[in-house]
Amino acid sequence: METPPRAPDGPLVVCGIAGSLREKSYNRALLRAARELAPEGMEVRIFERLAELPLFNQDVEAAGDPEPVQALKRAIAAAGALLIATPEYNHGVPGVLKNALDWASRPPRGSVLAGKPAAIFGASPGVTGTARAQSQLRQAFVFTQTPALLQPEILVYRAHEKFDADGRLTDEKTREFVGRLLRELADWTRRLRQAPAP
Ligand code: FNR
Repeated sequence: METPPRAPDGPLVVCGIAGSLREKSYNRALLRAARELAPEGMEVRIFERLAELPLFNQDVEAAGDPEPVQALKRAIAAAGALLIATPEYNHGVPGVLKNALDWASRPPRGSVLAGKPAAIFGASPGVTGTARAQSQLRQAFVFTQTPALLQPEILVYRAHEKFDADGRLTDEKTREFVGRLLRELADWTRRLRQAPAP
């Protein structure tokens, strides 16, 4: 695949990916909150097809990307930035999310993840709020050359107290933080766009 074109100026499309297949996932709910809280000039498009991605297999890849993988790559390529809501499983990134990123990271030179600004956040019922999974994602993004926004870090701990029964983010402080994260992502993406190409 060719190096993805720089996103054109204009509204910032953000590709949102939540690393959970659970219907009532807090992390998908967090992405929906981000879509609602996006600042003017930003559109969050949630990629909902993680369950259709096969397990990464280089033999399958060699035969040609399966259609859901093509759709994932297209969604990322069409976006100016990425927004990842990660759960934490056993102190790490859930397999479904890692699998999606492994597919998206190919080919290693010029993948759709290379140079794509990304923001990371996550929610869990525990007290650490996905801190370790977020750190692992940052490590993976070193290899994929995906510049991950450093601050603010959003760890939505005790998530069961912050969403209502319909999956709406009700905690005001968290809503403020999410809004701030999105504004920082927008500013930073614009700054990166304006930087001279290496
Ligand atoms: C978990 N959970 C969890 N939580 C956490 O804060 N740290 C952890 O290491 C783990 N480990 C873990 C392993 C496995 C296999 C499961 C199924 C769950 C709890 C997890 O945060 C909780 O199920 C979340 O609700 C998952 O995210 P979604 O599906 O709500 O987005």
